[in-house]
Amino acid sequence: MTNVLVAFATKGGTTQSIAERLGARLTEAGHAVAVVSVQDDPDPAAYEAVLIGSGVQAGSVYAPAGHWLTVHRRGLDHKPVGVFAVCLGMVAGDSARLEESSRYPGQLAEVLPGEPVATTVFAGSYDPRTRAWWERLAARLIRSPRGDFRDWAAVDAWGDDLAGRL
Ligand SMILES: Cc1cc2nc3c(=O)[nH]c(=O)nc-3n(C[C@H](O)[C@H](O)[C@H](O)COP(=O)(O)O)c2cc1C
Repeated sequence: MTNVLVAFATKGGTTQSIAERLGARLTEAGHAVAVVSVQDDPDPAAYEAVLIGSGVQAGSVYAPAGHWLTVHRRGLDHKPVGVFAVCLGMVAGDSARLEESSRYPGQLAEVLPGEPVATTVFAGSYDPRTRAWWERLAARLIRSPRGDFRDWAAVDAWGDDLAGRL
């Protein structure tokens, strides 16, 4: 059994839902898991392994995720860390945005003291009815797809793979 922290940064709740699903999967596999927002500033030094996930807006993972990693860099040293980004570029249907999506986890990984044990990108969701007007405007400008594209089988598969390696 490993003590695992699943830390997340979200604006719309999608990354939180994926973090919670990963947490449930790791718990089922026998690990002790805490799923905590980076806004609550969990201390990674108290855990044996860490997953960090962030949503994406305007081509960047969320600043609080990078900030949390920077502040806790020491506590992450010599520890298995998995990184995931949640976005919609890969469902937009063009190769440039697919390629862009694959680079988002790297924005988090580059702040780590070492190499992550795993990185991935999950498709997220976007519901304009739940967003502020400026977010709707920004999403329209970048032609963000609308809808729920979360692929729970992909989330479970990544969680199961990590569960065996942490
Ligand atoms: C204002 C806005 C900007 C976005 N910008 C991007 C983007 O640049 N690239 C991308 O792949 N997805 C983009 N998305 C999609 C989000 O990454 C997606 O909705 C994700 O699920 C958000 O995660 P969260 O709910 O945890 O914040 C954007 C969504 C919004 C509302």
